[in-house]
Amino acid sequence: MTETGSTTEARSGEDVLVVRNLRKTYEAEEAPVRALRGADLDLPRGQFAAVMGPSGCGKSTLLNLVAGLDQADEGEITLAGEAVTGRSEDELARMRRRHIGIVFQFFNLLEGMSAQENVVLPAVVAGTPRKKAEGRARDLLDLLGLGDKAKAAPGVLSGGQRQRLAIARALANEPTLLLADEPTGALDSEGGHEVMELFRRLHAGGQTILLVTHDDDVAAAAERIVRMKDGRVVGAGADGSAGSTGSGGTAGTSTPGAVTTSAAG
Ligand SMILES: Nc1ncnc2c1ncn2[C@@H]1O[C@H](COP(=O)(O)OP(=O)(O)O)[C@@H](O)[C@H]1O
Ligand SMILES: [Mg+2]
Repeated sequence: MTETGSTTEARSGEDVLVVRNLRKTYEAEEAPVRALRGADLDLPRGQFAAVMGPSGCGKSTLLNLVAGLDQADEGEITLAGEAVTGRSEDELARMRRRHIGIVFQFFNLLEGMSAQENVVLPAVVAGTPRKKAEGRARDLLDLLGLGDKAKAAPGVLSGGQRQRLAIARALANEPTLLLADEPTGALDSEGGHEVMELFRRLHAGGQTILLVTHDDDVAAAAERIVRMKDGRVVGAGADGSAGSTGSGGTAGTSTPGAVTTSAAG
């Protein structure tokens, strides 16, 4: 079963992500933790938004629910026009492969495999023929400045290179939405700079990005800051029309697939 042929419908202008009244409570030993208490967010196609807010305010929970890695208690998430909430695990996995690329603070690379294989694998799992997946992986590694590291084990790469590899992997299936949870949090300033430059380039190419960060310098690369507090998105900006730092989603009209490569076409 291949899922990759249907991922590039042009939907310019519409919101890639709509979050409404999202609620999530974790049962903990002492008292339940209300991680999300009615979060709302609209993310137009092509926008690069940085989510900021104090530790524990629900940023990672929001990303995990959007990625379908966990289930909300209440509220709605719509991704590329399809409801995420109320889906079975299998359907969520399918939607995730089709629409989501996700990057974590600690890379989560497969250490026993080459850099290239780390990028090939998710595409093969999603049903892309191996030869095509390998071609695209090589193109992605080139694009992300890792062309000469294809055969290297992730462990020999620098922190910045490891995170760039994790980003290449996240892009393997041409995701509608690229999610990143503190992607520079474990990097030194040089590595952080490399990674932010990459996000900037991907955004310039039309990639929709939702990135969590503590770092003002990192957030400055985004076109919009989404502030969270106590499980909610606060202030102007929940709907993407205000609170923007500038270009206001004009990239939303560009063609998705910033990193579409010849191998993928
Ligand atoms: N799996 C879990 N079980 C129990 N509590 C959790 C779990 N995940 C997150 N929490 C709690 O939910 C709140 C929000 O967490 P999180 O979304 O990780 O915040 P942030 O990413 O903004 O730091 C925190 O109080 C955290 O301790
Ligand atoms: Mg977090």
